[in-house]
Amino acid sequence: MTFHVLISDPLSEEGIYPLRQANGVNIVMETDLTPEQLGERIEGFDALLVRSQTQVTRELIEKASNLKIIGRAGVGVDNIDLEAATEHGIIVVNAPDGNTNSAAEHTMAMLMSMARKIPQAFHALRNQNWDRKSYVGVELKNKTLGVVGFGRIGQEVAARAKGQRMNVIAYDPFLTAEKADKLGVDFGSVEDVLKVADFVTVHTPLLKETKHLINKEAFEIMKDGVQIINCARGGIIDENALYDAVKSGKVAGAALDVFEQEPMVDFRLLDLPEVIATPHLGASTFEAQESVAVDVSMDVVSYFTTGTVRNS
Ligand code: NAD
Ligand code: MLT
Repeated sequence: MTFHVLISDPLSEEGIYPLRQANGVNIVMETDLTPEQLGERIEGFDALLVRSQTQVTRELIEKASNLKIIGRAGVGVDNIDLEAATEHGIIVVNAPDGNTNSAAEHTMAMLMSMARKIPQAFHALRNQNWDRKSYVGVELKNKTLGVVGFGRIGQEVAARAKGQRMNVIAYDPFLTAEKADKLGVDFGSVEDVLKVADFVTVHTPLLKETKHLINKEAFEIMKDGVQIINCARGGIIDENALYDAVKSGKVAGAALDVFEQEPMVDFRLLDLPEVIATPHLGASTFEAQESVAVDVSMDVVSYFTTGTVRNS
């Protein structure tokens, strides 16, 4: 029996080694398909492996009459219609911790770049402008970092921020006083966090409850001059409200890795000198890409050989 696997987003070659090694697995890698082309191609495949680019919609799932397992080489499964997959008896697996470290490191890189205006200063210097006055930053030491969403990445960011001598206050519906105490952070409601933070970083999934969690009202309760980081998902922060809050001076800096629409089409936020950005690079390290691809590849091999997976 042959198990046919379609890989529709670029995955690390080292990471898919477990699949290449497995007997009876036929791998097809086609990473530039339009949604229409993917719809025409999917028939006959037993497994589909994606990163974040491929949108696994109900329409696609309905065309995939042989599909048994979808592997998401990353954390967020918001590009997969889970309801449709479940209705069709398709298992969805992800790689929940393969990129935690990379995402936390990227968050810290964004926090420090924003606080010290490094991208803006480099941009000026590259334009042969030796300007030392415009790029005065702020220290992190003794500042308060508010972490909204205290899961794997939120906790790793908090540990690193404490290394920078920051105070950390976190909000997560599953965080208890006991756990916060053990991890050496303060905790409170989302409002408590937003009121006291000098820097706010969000690390929740994008859900109905977290869509525009950081909106006009949220900005209003924050400190004047607050700085914001989003290395989680576009849409957790309302981009229009952020634009207004930066324009008005309420928000002194924003560091964004993710956007409401990706690839980005509305570049308005980037017209603001206070905003720095990367194109969804949080998990883009060799280590993380190998790790997430290994995780989902092993799940597919496990499903093919034993009928079960480690996480689903
Ligand atoms: P996780 O599941 O370990 O943590 C998410 C946390 O959010 C959980 O503790 C959960 O209780 C909490 N949460 C849920 N709803 C909440 C709410 N309404 N308010 C506050 N907290 C809430 O996930 P993780 O691995 O830490 O990843 C977090 C996010 O980062 C995900 O959206 C993931 O897709 C994204 N991510 C982005 C990149 C990137 O490349 N930029 C890389 C990895 C992960
Ligand atoms: C994730 O959810 O794991 C991230 O967005 C990383 C990615 O897939 O690029």
